[in-house]
Amino acid sequence: MRVVFLSPAYPPEMVEYARGLAEVGAEVYGVADTPRDQLPAAVRPYLRDYLHVPRIMDEVDVMDRVSAWLRGRSIDRVLANWEPMVELAARLRERWGMPGMSYDTARGFRDKQLMKERVAAAGLRVPRSRRVHTAHEARAAAEEIGYPLILKPIAGAGSADTFRVDSQGELDAAIRSLVGVPVVSCEEYIDGQEYTFDTLCIAGKPVVESVMAYFPKPLEMRMHEWVSPIGITVRDMEQESLQGGITLGRQVLSALGMGDGFTHMEWFLTSSGEAVFGEIGARPGGAKIVDQMNYTCDVDLFREWARVACYQSFEGHAERKYNTAVIFKRAQGHGRITRIDGLTEWLRACGPWVVEERLLRPGALRRDWKQTLLSDGWLVVRHPEWNEALQMAQAAASKIRIYAQ
Ligand SMILES: Nc1ncnc2c1ncn2[C@@H]1O[C@H](COP(=O)(O)OP(=O)(O)OP(=O)(O)O)[C@@H](O)[C@H]1O
Ligand SMILES: [Mg+2]
Repeated sequence: MRVVFLSPAYPPEMVEYARGLAEVGAEVYGVADTPRDQLPAAVRPYLRDYLHVPRIMDEVDVMDRVSAWLRGRSIDRVLANWEPMVELAARLRERWGMPGMSYDTARGFRDKQLMKERVAAAGLRVPRSRRVHTAHEARAAAEEIGYPLILKPIAGAGSADTFRVDSQGELDAAIRSLVGVPVVSCEEYIDGQEYTFDTLCIAGKPVVESVMAYFPKPLEMRMHEWVSPIGITVRDMEQESLQGGITLGRQVLSALGMGDGFTHMEWFLTSSGEAVFGEIGARPGGAKIVDQMNYTCDVDLFREWARVACYQSFEGHAERKYNTAVIFKRAQGHGRITRIDGLTEWLRACGPWVVEERLLRPGALRRDWKQTLLSDGWLVVRHPEWNEALQMAQAAASKIRIYAQ
């Protein structure tokens, strides 16, 4: 089994997928824009060979270079788990006539307007929305949809350039901020608790399903620096309130023609109990979601993904044992971390339920919280009881303080 794996070391968790591929016996051919001698040492043992390309986002150039590089070698799979690479992987598969998701299907998981159209065509509930190219079109769409609404890039990530708009004045301000973004999705604002629906699929059918709750909404995590974002996987997937979202998720997978691999969907649960589609990607969730799923079930989904992607087989045990919370911390102040308060007490109070503690230490430079959800470090804590997990997470959010100067 020879696999081309795009971007094998960025974002950093890609190293884990490269490991998974190597562990299930695949020969991994990595392609990325990191010069070979700057590749992280951690990924090297998993790569059979590596091609450095000058511009990883230049699809035509990458396709030509990869084709030339691999001429004469037979390749069985082209895989990618980083969102911006998913379409390129599909185009390479099509060029080489290889199994896996087509380019058209991949687009349905990437283009936020197209995905909503396809999901809506299957009779599922999506926010009403329009694709807009100009200020004029945005105003017309706002008229039709009504306030509040959301303006966001068609192919966004990390809630970047996403605006909640409550009035004509805010619309004009958002339009000014979006100058330079060529196509924007203008959609009905859905008020509700936000959840994910994450899966690992074989031929579009989940072999693993997981729901995670966000506190607060991702848009608010992104708006206020003082927030400590929390995500908690839900152990009890049978509970009544989630059934609408889980059913919606399965239907979305078939509406969009999912094949093998991870999916990461976001959905809203409104106060009336309705599940509304948010967005979906044909790739794993970012930040720490796959680690969280692993801690939830004591499984290694990095390796099981590889087995699915290469052999359409799954050997993991996906029994849910814990609610697993990740808490991301952001320091107060700029520059270098000077002090952490409350950590020792929190660790003592949570005892054996803490499974990771990765806060930056005094002396370390702060990370840019707008660029990475990982922020100034994170904590992972799990518990079989939901309320216990939630309380430990909330305590970490409110009682642990990091300072920088
Ligand atoms: N129609 C909507 N109604 C209410 N909130 C919305 C809507 N669309 C987006 N949001 C808010 O904005 C956030 C970011 O939007 P979306 O998930 O579409 O973009 P993204 O940039 O891909 O985000 P990420 O990469 O963080 O998942 C959502 O998680 C949600 O909080
Ligand atoms: Mg999102």
